[in-house]
Amino acid sequence: MFRRQPPHRQRILITGASAGLGAAMARAWAADGRDLALCARRLGELERLRDELVALRPGITVSVHPVDVGDHAAVDAAFDDAVLALGGLDRVVANAGVAASGSLGLDEAAGNRLTAQTNFVGVLHQAEAALRIFRLAGAGHFAVISSMSALRGMAGAMSVYAASKAGVSALAEGLRSDLWDTDIRVSAIHPGYVDTSLADAFPQPILISNLPRATRAIVGAIDREAPRAYVPAWPWAALSVPMRLLPLGIYRRFAG
Ligand SMILES: NC(=O)c1ccc[n+]([C@@H]2O[C@H](COP(=O)([O-])OP(=O)(O)OC[C@H]3O[C@@H](n4cnc5c(N)ncnc54)[C@H](OP(=O)(O)O)[C@@H]3O)[C@@H](O)[C@H]2O)c1
Repeated sequence: MFRRQPPHRQRILITGASAGLGAAMARAWAADGRDLALCARRLGELERLRDELVALRPGITVSVHPVDVGDHAAVDAAFDDAVLALGGLDRVVANAGVAASGSLGLDEAAGNRLTAQTNFVGVLHQAEAALRIFRLAGAGHFAVISSMSALRGMAGAMSVYAASKAGVSALAEGLRSDLWDTDIRVSAIHPGYVDTSLADAFPQPILISNLPRATRAIVGAIDREAPRAYVPAWPWAALSVPMRLLPLGIYRRFAG
């Protein structure tokens, strides 16, 4: 089937860029000559990364924007600052996330609320800000970093985390439908377990990918503007089918 070649997206905003997958995506796109707006709460980490990227690839523009994605007004302001710094935005990658959830009813309410607030409401704030900018410009690409855990409900420490990711995947599909006849594209990327500090919170990570391999797969899927991607494709694209179909009593034995 004919597939449209995705446009080159030069000016990319990444949230959660101070560590892990966000910093690794920034390194990959900087090496490719893209201009970047880096967002997270820790300004010092963003500034260190900016200096590294500009030294790596002189000539690119890299701006930094300290922001908590849980604060809607702050997200709006940071994205507007990024438009000024880069002269516009072609792509937003909503990547900031936490894994702080636990079994409900067992004094984990604060972590559960933080996980829902950051991973779902935070993405909602980022989608509002990005789509306001893209609708004005008439084009753009909004990519959200979901998770394989979005495919099924999960127990214990994964419970609210998985639910928050299911929410953002559903949101992304709804946005794709809403924007169907426009030049605004939406992608939901579903990584399996990746070796970052966030994965330390997962009780039994299986088939964990190292950061360089996962980053190549994620950046590739985003650059292809895949509507929905399971990454790295091996084994996660293949596993996405039984993950959805297995009875819960069997699924929970290895998924938690
Ligand atoms: N690692 C995995 O196994 C895995 C698998 C599937 C999906 N994912 C998803 O991939 C994304 C990146 O995760 P990672 O593994 O790279 O984790 P990480 O190394 O812990 O990085 C998380 C990033 O999110 C930022 N962040 C957290 N809360 C924030 C907030 N309220 N406002 C702004 N920024 C915030 C952090 O920066 P500051 O602390 O400086 O704010 C940091 O840059 C997350 O959405 C995660 O759910 C990860």
